[in-house]
Amino acid sequence: QRGKPLHEHHNGSTSKVSESGLWQRLSQFLPWSSSPSLPGPPGFFLIGNMMELTHDHLPIHLTNLAQRYGSIYRLKCGNTTMVVLNSSEVIREALVKKWSDFAGRPVSYTGDIVSGGGCSISLGDYNEKWRAHRRLVHSALQRCCQKSLHEVIERQALHLRKVLMDYDGSAVDLAEDFTVAASNVITTLTFGKEYDKSSVELQQLHSCLNEIVALWGSSWISALDSFPLLRKLPNPVFSRLLKEVTKRDDIIREHLNNYKSQDNKSEDAITGSLLRGIDQHQNSEEDVLLTDIHVHMATVDLLIGGTETTAAWLSWTVAFLLHRPEVQTGVYEELCTVLEGRYPKYSDKHRLPVLCSLINEVLRLRPVAPLAVPHRAIRDSSIAGYFIPKGTVIIPNVFGAHHDPAVWSEPYSFRPERFVEGGSCSTRALLPFGGGARLCLGEAVAKMELFLFTAYLLRDFQFILPNNSDSLPDLRGVASVVLKINSYKPLETNIIY
Ligand code: HEM
Repeated sequence: QRGKPLHEHHNGSTSKVSESGLWQRLSQFLPWSSSPSLPGPPGFFLIGNMMELTHDHLPIHLTNLAQRYGSIYRLKCGNTTMVVLNSSEVIREALVKKWSDFAGRPVSYTGDIVSGGGCSISLGDYNEKWRAHRRLVHSALQRCCQKSLHEVIERQALHLRKVLMDYDGSAVDLAEDFTVAASNVITTLTFGKEYDKSSVELQQLHSCLNEIVALWGSSWISALDSFPLLRKLPNPVFSRLLKEVTKRDDIIREHLNNYKSQDNKSEDAITGSLLRGIDQHQNSEEDVLLTDIHVHMATVDLLIGGTETTAAWLSWTVAFLLHRPEVQTGVYEELCTVLEGRYPKYSDKHRLPVLCSLINEVLRLRPVAPLAVPHRAIRDSSIAGYFIPKGTVIIPNVFGAHHDPAVWSEPYSFRPERFVEGGSCSTRALLPFGGGARLCLGEAVAKMELFLFTAYLLRDFQFILPNNSDSLPDLRGVASVVLKINSYKPLETNIIY
């Protein structure tokens, strides 16, 4: 940013010249060749490293490449250069320390289609309008969370408890129940509405949001961004994506219209705050104009960001506990001692270190957004001493950082005890929610959900393998935008107080 020495922080304050600004100025006097060139696998003519990106478990593959090329390397795909960051140190440097250089999102043909023309928070590029949008949603979310988040999660945790009680000790896949619980937290916060597992409306909404995430993450779709010529060919996967996006928009539009027409609408719901917010915005002196499409896309952001992530994390937790039942016993004993029979509150967090270490260890081993969301350099900058030109796509490999042998001993083992007092690890190297200007918008919601849902479940149930099965759940998982576990069926027995 020549002629603009001050860099603005995402909280609105200003700071002294950022390191990247200094780098830019110095770079005027240095030949680029003085910066070492980034390592990376050799690419093939035209397609570059496209094949590397079609691997069935991309986070594991990128982490393996880091063993050969180091904590920062480049991949080429068509005419796009991607830089993969594989340690918490380099991820922090880019996302937190130099946030103002790397806060962009890649603008793409298919990204535009799923994000209402770049109007979503998660996929929108960094500019004044995006900042106003994120601020608006952040404050609506904060207001709503202060008023009712704890109560909303408690209610869903109690409901989940009842659902599990009704299974009466049979072996069932709990993934769908976790999805309903997480989704109801978000729909209650957003529209003041909750659903039954059998609700057709809920099933339609989820099947279409899941389809969009899965299709958009597929290489059939990403190829269209890198190779524009392919857009001229018939592509059934792309046609399905378009159909699901139309379906999603119809569902959300109907929800928003219903909300607007309600006589006794929940004034605390985020939708209400957002609609009031855009009215105020339109009447203010601000240059940027936020409209109904921003409320619409924010709703999509919250539903997508807040449902499968939390639900997948809960499924991972139960699976890991089946692998090490003594950890489950440890958490249960801590809950009994500290709570003395009552239900937990989020304020009990500091008195439940064993439970917190379990939460941190599952977030470390299975960060449910394993590659975060790609960032984009919005100006020339550097990471770890390498020159990164404007426009470069940055992939924060959170999964890789969480398995970095330089930071974690036995990085692939499930050992929550590493985080308890006297253990060898601090949580500083954990980055499951990303960082900087693009830090997960729902971090506070997610943290309270993970804590309360897990505490409620482990207070009242013991998860064990079904009698007729001695095969433990497979912990490799399936990686798309969200890292999920393959279906498995634990048996949950009630613990009577
Ligand atoms: C973005 C993780 C739950 C809403 C992200 C990112 C990560 C992440 C890694 C990308 C950050 C980046 O680009 O650097 C998680 C995890 C969750 C979780 C691990 C639960 C275990 C939630 C919830 C919500 C949510 C509950 C909504 C209430 C969002 C949104 C973004 C986002 C809107 C886009 C932020 C932006 O681009 O500015 N999340 N998330 N997430 N998350 Fe979450």
